[in-house]
Amino acid sequence: MSKENTQDTLFGDKDITKKSKSEENKNKGKVAPNNKLNNLTGSEWKFSTKSVINKPYPVNLQHKLRSQHGGQKPPDLCSDLIRTFTKKNNKVLDPFGGVGGTLLGATLANRRAVGIEIENKWIEIYKEVCQLEKLREEEFINGDSKIELDKLRKNSFDFVLTDIPYWNIDKLKKTRSKTARKSKLSQFNEDELQTKEEWLADMVEIFTKTHRVLKDDKYMGVFIGDIYRDSKYHLLGAELAKELEDTGLWTLKANLIWYDVSKLLHVYGYPSAFVPSMIHQNILILRKTIV
Ligand SMILES: C[S@@+](CC[C@H](N)C(=O)[O-])C[C@H]1O[C@@H](n2cnc3c(N)ncnc32)[C@H](O)[C@@H]1O
Repeated sequence: MSKENTQDTLFGDKDITKKSKSEENKNKGKVAPNNKLNNLTGSEWKFSTKSVINKPYPVNLQHKLRSQHGGQKPPDLCSDLIRTFTKKNNKVLDPFGGVGGTLLGATLANRRAVGIEIENKWIEIYKEVCQLEKLREEEFINGDSKIELDKLRKNSFDFVLTDIPYWNIDKLKKTRSKTARKSKLSQFNEDELQTKEEWLADMVEIFTKTHRVLKDDKYMGVFIGDIYRDSKYHLLGAELAKELEDTGLWTLKANLIWYDVSKLLHVYGYPSAFVPSMIHQNILILRKTIV
């Protein structure tokens, strides 16, 4: 049994009805002619619906250079998600581009992409990676998504894949205490301090704008980590999903858990309190509601 099949048995087989199983067998090794979503075969499709992603992703494509950005995502993970939600030559948008995890993922999957990033230094790193790896450069706009999204054509993208800027309470800690630890994450959001409500409102504003440029019925994937701060766990993924559903523009379809096997464990709270060592992120999967 291949590794892929072993994982299939562990995560998904039980839920497959007889009807869908025979459907899947029929399409094994070929793309169903009525497949509207992607270019996956039946068995690839089954594998792509796993709610936990525990695949180890390669340290590749100038990983060290891209790691200057504390929030970079593995291009191969982005590529897997893009292959699940698009067909070849479809167009992907990332309104928070960073050093281009989504853009590189799109190139690997033979899709086109447009990124928007407020800090030009991250775009420069993306361009350097493309040159060093001899990869095609996707379009990368330097600017604020709140402004740039309005300039893009309505209904022009097939998938949005993005990784949102963190709710920046690291800065709050720094201003309160000189001894506060400098977080790697604070490098990539130069925004003023925000309350959680202000941060959520910002995200809703931007995702209302991405709704306009995404084609009807298409999907959006949003990387978002929950956080433990001020002695309290914040279910940020769930909070953002609720805010987005409340707009009436998006329907939540899944919360994929990316278990990042490369993350090191840290000891927090020992020996008196339980504090999680966060080794996972949520990937919210939302579908555009036609309004
Ligand atoms: C979590 S990082 C994205 C990392 C990316 N997935 C990668 O692989 O490099 C979020 C990015 O959004 C950018 N950003 C924050 N606010 C923005 C805005 N209003 N418009 C465009 N980019 C913004 C930040 O500078 C940061 O690089």
